[in-house]
Amino acid sequence: GSVLFDSKLFAFFNKVLRKLIFDWRVLYLPSKKTLSASSTYILRIMASSTLICDTEPWKELRAHVEDINKTHLRDLMNDTKRCQSMMMEFDGILLDYSRQRATLDTLNKLFNLAEAARVKEKINWMFNGEHINSTENRSVLHVALRAPRDTVINSDGENVVPEVWQVLDKIRDFSERVRSGAWVGVTGKTLKAVVAIGIGGSFLGPLFVHTALQTEAEAIECARGRQLRFLANVDPIDVARNITGLNPETTLVVVVSKTFTTAETMLNARTLREWISSALGPQAVAKHMVAVSTNLKLVEQFGIDPNNAFAFWDWVGGRYSVCSAVGVLPLSLQYGFSIVEKFLKGASSVDRHFYSAPFEKNIPVILGLLSVWNVSFLGYPARAILPYSQALEKLAPHIQQVSMESNGKGVSIDGVPLPYQTGEIDFGEPGTNGQHSFYQLIHQGRVIPCDFIGVVKSQQPIYLKDEVVSNHDEVMSNFFAQPDALAYGKTPEQLQKENVPEHLVSHKTFSGNRPSLSILLPSLNAYNIGQLLAIYEHRVAVQGFVWGINSFDQWGVELGKSLATQVRKQLHASRKKGESVEGFNFSTKMLITKYLESAMG
Ligand code: F6P
Repeated sequence: GSVLFDSKLFAFFNKVLRKLIFDWRVLYLPSKKTLSASSTYILRIMASSTLICDTEPWKELRAHVEDINKTHLRDLMNDTKRCQSMMMEFDGILLDYSRQRATLDTLNKLFNLAEAARVKEKINWMFNGEHINSTENRSVLHVALRAPRDTVINSDGENVVPEVWQVLDKIRDFSERVRSGAWVGVTGKTLKAVVAIGIGGSFLGPLFVHTALQTEAEAIECARGRQLRFLANVDPIDVARNITGLNPETTLVVVVSKTFTTAETMLNARTLREWISSALGPQAVAKHMVAVSTNLKLVEQFGIDPNNAFAFWDWVGGRYSVCSAVGVLPLSLQYGFSIVEKFLKGASSVDRHFYSAPFEKNIPVILGLLSVWNVSFLGYPARAILPYSQALEKLAPHIQQVSMESNGKGVSIDGVPLPYQTGEIDFGEPGTNGQHSFYQLIHQGRVIPCDFIGVVKSQQPIYLKDEVVSNHDEVMSNFFAQPDALAYGKTPEQLQKENVPEHLVSHKTFSGNRPSLSILLPSLNAYNIGQLLAIYEHRVAVQGFVWGINSFDQWGVELGKSLATQVRKQLHASRKKGESVEGFNFSTKMLITKYLESAMG
């Protein structure tokens, strides 16, 4: 901890402040009738006046770090009983967390921590539609997006599942019409290409799933002759890249935005509207543009027929929205609804597991607790997501947003500055590419807990004539080797036995004791992709539940947005009326002036 956080004075003021805010949130706010009775109760508990770091289980884990520091993974891996208990299987997925710097005692202590943080109750509240996103007074119900038709999940006293299925049925119908050519463009041609415009949660999740499905046998068959592209960046280069080679006559644009106000998405939507109408006339927009949003009024104002809008709801967070029309519409247009339905089923299977499995056998809970252990106790601030499958190349960017936008917070759910860090720095690349890039640092530099994700059956196996080891075997050899290299390392003694010259021994030594976990999937089809997505989503939630934060808001993205608005106004005034740059600090003023002087924009 920093000097500030360690100081007794800070701790004292922090406690007083916490108490004051707690009283205000719990006693004053509800009396203003802003929340329902049950939500008030929930808030009272969520905003518990005790921070998790003041509880006994947290303190015990802190003390326990000393025990763990006396161990090395080399020795921990010798304990077969321990390793056996740190492996589990669920619905075809194998999880092995024996290479975590943890013992069975650590696990027990983490389960006690989960109890102190009321993780079980928080999971129940989430599934029961309580307003656990308290700063936005919303429920958090992405699990309802993939629930079977007959499930009952209430939000504000209403079962939301029928509404979910109404939209899914509408997507099924629309996507089938587009794919079959029953719905055509203004010139009567089938719409073979889809450009999905959206950013952040309205982009990364669908891109991840699309990339993962692209090379899967059944998906390839279903996507024959079609293409799906994603336009996210406001940079005009992204527009150019995405429309290159496309004909507006055969293109359908899907504007995806929860709010329908996001600057980047709206500018890109206006840009493609112009692209379509200048080629085909303004009446073409009705046939060539559809939308996905919670704000159907703004969709209509933009000029998209509300009948061609696909709704979702404010209880779906942007980064948790891939199972709503945000992902389901573009993916169904590309692959057909039945493939996407399998993806939803995979996610739903993990939802049920997360909701009902005891914590000792609950994959997202165990993963979430281990991440808290790594971040908050062992002091590892980063996590590498390393899928040994090129099809999962967009997993890390997606999870990066899910995790970092959810858990990168500075205050507790009741708004009090936290004396500990939350969230982690997520990054990753598929193996084996990453091995030739940043693995050097992971092996001999900083300690970064790694998630290795492997697949038993390749989507695209290759067997060379005279080779017994297939190309996929080659990838998987690395998947199996890397975790052991990290855990065991290599000692100077081993190197000396190998006659490594003395001056190189220290350079070639690997300290080992570097934690990782391995997830082995049977194959990579729509169902498994859905499972993987839900595992990560729930793991992130578990971490947030333990840290006592609100993982479902994202106020941290606002400041930059509002400053950009100020700059945009300045650019407008300078370009239109030649006004000089005012109202900025010296540095920003100089930069903007330079830009205006020399650039054409
Ligand atoms: O980056 C902030 C954010 O609000 C994300 O949470 C969200 O997914 C993204 O912007 C896009 O928002 P929208 O779907 O409303 O356009």
